[in-house]
Amino acid sequence: MSKKFDVLDVGGEEWLYSKKVKQHFFHPKNVLTDELKERYFDAVGEVGSPACGDVMQIWIRVRAGKIADLKWKTFGCASAIASTSILSEMAIGKTLARAYKITAQDIVKSLGGLPRRKIHCSILGDQALRAAIDNYRKSGKTKGAK
Ligand code: FES
Repeated sequence: MSKKFDVLDVGGEEWLYSKKVKQHFFHPKNVLTDELKERYFDAVGEVGSPACGDVMQIWIRVRAGKIADLKWKTFGCASAIASTSILSEMAIGKTLARAYKITAQDIVKSLGGLPRRKIHCSILGDQALRAAIDNYRKSGKTKGAK
């Protein structure tokens, strides 16, 4: 008999991950690799989760006011990995202003949902992206960017 859930948490709650969450967790997109050096990017944002202590870092490369490239790295869980993977696809190609407005709700919706207790994991990516954009704007590299 096959299970109707993916994870049974310590409180006995059954978690079911969507197909999209599994796709992005098992095959995450735009993870930072050692081949890309820091000078390739224009800014980095880092946030930590008060809920679990995990950390997320996002690097952005900006060209003509748009996110030309985005890479990320996390010490977070499967939900954080899937969330940031899909966020990277949502943000690349967008103007800084539009990318800044991507919310955790947008991410969860694009993933087809997350278990209730894993919603906080989706917040790390969008916060780290906003931190990277804030740092980019403070860096003085913003000529021609919006
Ligand atoms: Fe920490 Fe998910 S439990 S990011």
